[in-house]
Amino acid sequence: MDLSSRGPAGLFLRIIAEPRPLWWRFAFAGTVVAAALVLRLGLIAWMVEFPPYLLQLPAIIVVALVCGAECGLAAIAVLVGVNAALLPEGPDGGVAPSALASLLSFTVNSFAVWAIAGLVRTTLRRLDSAHAALLSAASEQTAVVATLEALLQHAPVGFAFFDAQRRFIRVNEMLARIDGIPAREHAGRSLADMLPQLADAVTPSLERVLATGEVIADVELEGATPAAPGVWRHFLVSYFPVRTSSEAISLVGMIVVEITERKRAEKAIAASEQRYRLLAEALPKMVWTSSPAGTGDYYNHRWAEYTGVEAPPGEVVEWHAFLHPEEKGGVMGAWEASLASGNPFSRECRFRAKDGSYRWFLCRAVPVRDEDGRVDRWYGSCTDISEIVAAREALSRTNEDLERLAAARTMQLAETNTLLKQEMEERLRAESQLRQAQKMEAVGQLTGGIAHDFNNLLTIIIGNIEAAERRVPADPGDTRTQEIKTQEIRRFLDYGRQGALRAAILTQRLLAFSRRQPLDPRPTDVNRLVTGMSHMLRSALGERVMVETVLAGGLWRTEIDHNQLENAILNLAVNARDAMMDGGKLTIETANAYLDEAYCAEHEDLEPGQYVAIFVSDTGMGMSDDVRARAFEPFFTTKGPKDGTGLGLSQVYGFVKQSGGHVMIYSERGDGTTVKLYLPRLEETPSVPEPAPPRTDGETRAAPAVVLMVEDDDQLRTMGAATLREAGHTVIEAEDASAALDALSRGARPDLLFTDVRLGDGMDGRGLADEVKRRLPRTRVLFTTAYARNAVVHQGRLDPGMKLLTKPYSQSELVTKVNGMLDEPALRGAVLLVEDEPFVAMVASQILEDQGFKVTVASHGEAALSHARNAKADIGRDALVLAIVDIGLPDMRGDEVVRRLGEIAPELPVIVATGYATQDISQMFGGRVDVGVISKPYDGATLVAALERLGFRPQGQG
Ligand SMILES: Nc1ncnc2c1ncn2[C@@H]1O[C@H](COP(=O)(O)OP(=O)(O)OP(=O)(O)O)[C@@H](O)[C@H]1O
Ligand SMILES: [Mg+2]
Repeated sequence: MDLSSRGPAGLFLRIIAEPRPLWWRFAFAGTVVAAALVLRLGLIAWMVEFPPYLLQLPAIIVVALVCGAECGLAAIAVLVGVNAALLPEGPDGGVAPSALASLLSFTVNSFAVWAIAGLVRTTLRRLDSAHAALLSAASEQTAVVATLEALLQHAPVGFAFFDAQRRFIRVNEMLARIDGIPAREHAGRSLADMLPQLADAVTPSLERVLATGEVIADVELEGATPAAPGVWRHFLVSYFPVRTSSEAISLVGMIVVEITERKRAEKAIAASEQRYRLLAEALPKMVWTSSPAGTGDYYNHRWAEYTGVEAPPGEVVEWHAFLHPEEKGGVMGAWEASLASGNPFSRECRFRAKDGSYRWFLCRAVPVRDEDGRVDRWYGSCTDISEIVAAREALSRTNEDLERLAAARTMQLAETNTLLKQEMEERLRAESQLRQAQKMEAVGQLTGGIAHDFNNLLTIIIGNIEAAERRVPADPGDTRTQEIKTQEIRRFLDYGRQGALRAAILTQRLLAFSRRQPLDPRPTDVNRLVTGMSHMLRSALGERVMVETVLAGGLWRTEIDHNQLENAILNLAVNARDAMMDGGKLTIETANAYLDEAYCAEHEDLEPGQYVAIFVSDTGMGMSDDVRARAFEPFFTTKGPKDGTGLGLSQVYGFVKQSGGHVMIYSERGDGTTVKLYLPRLEETPSVPEPAPPRTDGETRAAPAVVLMVEDDDQLRTMGAATLREAGHTVIEAEDASAALDALSRGARPDLLFTDVRLGDGMDGRGLADEVKRRLPRTRVLFTTAYARNAVVHQGRLDPGMKLLTKPYSQSELVTKVNGMLDEPALRGAVLLVEDEPFVAMVASQILEDQGFKVTVASHGEAALSHARNAKADIGRDALVLAIVDIGLPDMRGDEVVRRLGEIAPELPVIVATGYATQDISQMFGGRVDVGVISKPYDGATLVAALERLGFRPQGQG
């Protein structure tokens, strides 16, 4: 019977099996009994013959089936009672036996039916509950199966099931992913076929599980899989038996977890751990760790080495037992405090070594915390600081010593310093002595050179004079021999003169080198000078040397001594000739040049600025570096004694330097030489024209005059006087200044004073000239000097208006010079010079006298005015033609003087000399044409130019 069917049987079963409350069952039973009784009574009444119990038995069955046994019994009782009551009376008035028999039968039947119905009901109900239990069990199993299936598919581990033949039955997705073969391809295939590399390791375990039914857990496996060929992978595998029906094992399950990554991490951790352990062991200090409670659980070997007590890992070490008793309390207190607070621990303390000695250690420990912030472990170290502690103690002990030492050292240093200073002073002294010695040596060399050359020349001169003397005839009457001898004497005298002239050139060159020769610089056009030398050059250089000149157009002018420049160029040309034995080319080039700051900084005594350059080049043999370095030295020559004195280039050098210029040699051995001369450009174009070339013949004629000749060298004086007398002049000789002044006192009135600048003791030539001029202003003065860096020559230049004849001079030169001066035009009138500064007055007087004026100097304004008044009143004085007035006078202003001079002599031209801006002064005189202004300090050219502006034509200098 289908217990769950919906047909009448199902309905019937549900009616019977349905558990119902008691009241419902009695109510239902009552209803059914009542219905049966009503129907019996009704039907009996309707048809008399109707069997009275026909419907009552089914009612009892229904009640017993639906409402249970107790309700059935109750129904039987009610029905039997009612039926008994309804029994018909028999004829005897009692109950008819048939009716009673029917009732009895009915009662018996009722119980029989009741019993059967009760059995049916119980059976059906039991069946129903069994069916329900079955149904629920089945549904539970389905859920379990579904859960297991889901678990299998989604498990993060691989599952595989094998049959007894060790063939795959099924695997989950994870396993397929692990071995790299799709899940569906596993079923029915063998392990050896699919995973040959792992089969050997897996098979024994499968067999063991099949045989014994035991579970094998966590077996490590390694090898490559098709998922990653060549990659070595690690797995953790478990095996378990599966019993499906009987007790027999039908399947083996396998769980696979890949642990390749874990293995790698473990390896890395192990390696790192080993590294740190090695590090800890390698450290030269004791390293340890401790639990949060403070018990040490690791000590490196240093601990055992030092204390002599091994500390196997994990064992408790009573480290504090090794502390020095003095520190124990403090250290333990600090360590406990750190454990309690979790703050780092640091302490210096002594530990006992295995030999019983103690050493100092710096112990530190830091806590490492877990993720909850609790201290997980302490990491500590103990560093041996015994040396440091000892040093520290020693340091503190020796600090005082050090201070003492420092003081001592400072004193020592001071002493050394003093010694050093002394040494330096000594060295300086020694150096200066050395310099002095070197200087002396140089002087010695020079003197030796000079002496040698002079001796040679003197030998020539003396020899010739002696030879001449020997030929002076003993008997003056012997005219015949006298004639022969006179010729010889002349020859010897000629030789002697030549020797003397060479000696003169020698001294001139020496003076040139020492930059002490008196120079007579004049504004010069170098191009003209070079052109003028061409004839001389060609004859000096001979035919084999070609001369070329390259002269710059617009060449600036320079103020230079003509003779010396010619000498210099000639010297260079001769050197060039000597360097070109087989001929060659000499080039003289001129140019404007600018020497800049950088260039001048590299050379001594050189100002940056504009220069006139002269380059003398040859194509000769050139100079070696050594020769070039020494070429300017006097007496340095590479030529034989007869060919060179070694004074040529030193003359060039000395002269150029003295003139404020610069000279350089550029030369390479075999490549020729260029010597470059730089002469300072003449800044102002002077109004003084270049003088006419001096007359070179001694035949100049001057009107006979009186010459006062002052010379302390008797011979020279006598000779000069004789020459001048020969030229027609009257000569008064004086050997010194006082003799000369005596002559004046005796009434002599010389037209010209010819005096040496140096005059023995007493007054020198300059002083004498001043005195003579004071007494006889018209007297002209001619100085002579051999060596002059004194009053006549300032910085190598002649004071303007001075005349100078340099020694040695020839007699004809003397005559030419004297005559030239006497020939100069007469004085041009008197000038009143108002100037309180004596030096300026002196210079200006000289210039004015050179220009032919008679000069009266007034140092004060009042004096000037009174002189002008006297001059106006004549009384035998020279008429004033000009006044030169200084603005700053002691007693009144210069402009006041000029104004009052104007009142005295309205036509008198005036030059105002001022130290202020000239425009301001010019304005003061409101455009008076007869007032010129010059600014102080002024030189000859400026004054001459101012004179010219007022109509006084300049006069040439002699
Ligand atoms: N143009 C040149 N080429 C090669 N060497 C030269 C030239 N000029 C000078 N020298 C060298 O420099 C030396 C010195 O020259 P310096 O003119 O001073 O004396 P010198 O020519 O030897 O003698 P002096 O000029 O007195 O006759 C020379 O001896 C020569 O060696
Ligand atoms: Mg020379």
